Amino acid sequence: MEIITKVNQMQMLAKDIKKNNRSIGLVPTMGYLHEGHLTLVRASKRDTDVTVVSIFVNPIQFGPKEDFSRYPRDFERDRSMLEKECVDYIFYPSIDEMYQPDFSTTINVEGVTKNLCGASRPGHFQGVTTVVGKLFNIVLPDKAYFGEKDYQQLVTIKKMVKDLNFPIEIIGMPIVRENDGLAMSSRNSYLSEEERKSALCLYKSILLAKEMVIMGKKNIKDIIIAIEELIKKTPFTKIDYVKICDPETLECIEDGNIDGKKLLALAVFIGNTRLIDNAILEG
Ligand code: PAJ
Repeated sequence: MEIITKVNQMQMLAKDIKKNNRSIGLVPTMGYLHEGHLTLVRASKRDTDVTVVSIFVNPIQFGPKEDFSRYPRDFERDRSMLEKECVDYIFYPSIDEMYQPDFSTTINVEGVTKNLCGASRPGHFQGVTTVVGKLFNIVLPDKAYFGEKDYQQLVTIKKMVKDLNFPIEIIGMPIVRENDGLAMSSRNSYLSEEERKSALCLYKSILLAKEMVIMGKKNIKDIIIAIEELIKKTPFTKIDYVKICDPETLECIEDGNIDGKKLLALAVFIGNTRLIDNAILEG
């Protein structure tokens, strides 16, 4: 496994790999890896000849009051986890390497970024699509792997690839959860023991919604109210959003019943830590 820190070197390596007719799989991450990230890595190892994992805490996708400076980082731990997975390259650039002082170009996907995290975190998705667009041009992957944990991010990147004709296949992978159901996230490391218990309210909300649909209680307003009640009675919580939307356009649906596939998306503060989760409800 090789660690590449320079854009030029990564791009030259990628061109060489392609010249030899070998396919490249890219797994973009911000590090502090867990099993969720590793399922993406394993899928890439299975599907492609050469797997590149990028580790870059991307400053431009964090708002001014968000957790960029305290985002968990442990490169040695990440390195040894990726070594065990037999990853070929880690792309690990510095901020200066990715963003020159005169950097002034961004990618902005409209529509699907309007609601959910796009509404709560202005500028977030522009930061994500800009860095992912750069990573695509640097690593030249045939396939790139993203988790459904960040459902809106996955939909946004698929839209960017379609609209801008990136010759890349985007592969979405299911959410990996802890034994009790909490979706794995690097941010779970912020939680105190008590907050960790409260954090389970996101998964409990998903189970509650699924159960209501099975019981024939498919009214969207009723499901949202039931979830909001469940979360509000959990200590340390503050709801950012509880929404049910179209899984493709991410337009929120306020009225009527669950029919066909709908996305339930949640963002909840547990203390100061903002966690997200989602599930498809099938009416
Ligand atoms: P990060 O939060 O490190 O996540 C990297 C990838 O791992 C994302 O595609 C995310 O959806 C996936 N992932 C995280 N937790 C998961 C889980 N529990 N199950 C399955 N997949 C999971 O998402 C980012 O980084 C950044 O926004 C990035 C795309 C790297 C751009 O900076």
